[in-house]
Amino acid sequence: MEEKIVAMPRIGDKAPEFTAVTTQGPINFPKDYAGQWVILFSHPADFTPVCTSEFMTFATMEDQFAKANCKLVGLSVDGLFSHIAWLRTIKEKIQYKGMKDVEVKFPLIEDITMEVAHKYGMMQPGESATKAVRAVFFIDPKGIIRAVIYYPLSLGRNFDEIYRALIAMQTADAFQVATPADWRPGDEVIVPPAGSCGVAKDRMEAKDPAVTCHDWFFCTKKIDKETVLKTVLKK
Ligand code: BEZ
Repeated sequence: MEEKIVAMPRIGDKAPEFTAVTTQGPINFPKDYAGQWVILFSHPADFTPVCTSEFMTFATMEDQFAKANCKLVGLSVDGLFSHIAWLRTIKEKIQYKGMKDVEVKFPLIEDITMEVAHKYGMMQPGESATKAVRAVFFIDPKGIIRAVIYYPLSLGRNFDEIYRALIAMQTADAFQVATPADWRPGDEVIVPPAGSCGVAKDRMEAKDPAVTCHDWFFCTKKIDKETVLKTVLKK
């Protein structure tokens, strides 16, 4: 069979549009999510253990993401009835790491035709011809893809990292800064690089007491945790 070659959506691209049937009714993506962040993520298959652990974890964090103005949308190449049966099993039967009676309230897309999965580069035949890899697309309130993370089938995602990345991008947007390695709210942020020799000189002469420079191109400043959280989280 001829392999379908699809361009993968990249950071900075408009999120590819689609309509789909989900466990929460039909959706028109990304239009229905305008003005909000949305995390579109794929998983390989229903009724599989790693995916079950991921769905339970993500579902228990849904309110936390909602406070950061972010909706969750899942996808696998299974059908709607399989999705419904799996989510019912999770709620009724599965206890895992202190989580039980977990109701997955965010939409799970049925994609038997793999149309959406192909549009988003979630089918990666070197890993599996029939199962989507674990992709995570962060899409901003204007429908632009801002970050993409891919994991193989065997590797369950770190949802704290997904939340950290979301808050870091929102902080970068709100304060016009960048965030260094392992940044968390309350840690120092990176101020934009000096764009002229004059600014580089001022930075090295510590003209702004709020800014600390390790060298002219690497300067940081403090933003309080409370200030970050008050800005990016809804009450
Ligand atoms: C899982 O979710 O457990 C799984 C799915 C596909 C391949 C391997 C593991």
